[in-house]
Amino acid sequence: MDELSPPSRSRGTDVSCSLHNTASHLLTKAELQAMLEETRETNAKVGITGILLYKDGTFLQVLEGDQEAVMKLASRVKEHHRHKDFQMLLRGTSEHRLFADWSVGFRDLTDNSLKCILGFSDFLNTPFTGVEFSANPADCMKLLLSFKKNM
Ligand SMILES: Cc1cc2nc3c(=O)[nH]c(=O)nc-3n(C[C@H](O)[C@H](O)[C@H](O)COP(=O)(O)O)c2cc1C
Repeated sequence: MDELSPPSRSRGTDVSCSLHNTASHLLTKAELQAMLEETRETNAKVGITGILLYKDGTFLQVLEGDQEAVMKLASRVKEHHRHKDFQMLLRGTSEHRLFADWSVGFRDLTDNSLKCILGFSDFLNTPFTGVEFSANPADCMKLLLSFKKNM
């Protein structure tokens, strides 16, 4: 993957990767779908691309775009009533968008059909607790990018 430089106003695309636990209940497929539709619409309007993974009530999200738009959206998502334990894992600037073609790519990792896709086992076996990801955010991003190849 492209190496991320420290956040910069002068060039490139701001990229943030965050992990957030949802509140009290696991989301149903209908709730996820509704959230995704709204998210895609809003992000497309403000020129944000990225990916959203969901597993066992926890989201891993990459947002990329203009720095101000990314930060504004990240704090809006952080303040959202459904969230707790929002954690910013990684922030930096990339010359190119990593998920340029997707307003919001989405995978529900609780979906069993993913188990047969090569390369996903690491993710499926990693508990989404933040301990593993915050210890090694670059590896976390590598895994996220493996979804791009396989989606
Ligand atoms: C994990 C998570 C990620 C979200 N990401 C975005 C996002 O990238 N862009 C956005 O506009 N809204 C985002 N939202 C907000 C949702 O699009 C939407 O506003 C919200 O789920 C509506 O839920 P409510 O009816 O409970 O308020 C996110 C919400 C959650 C829970």
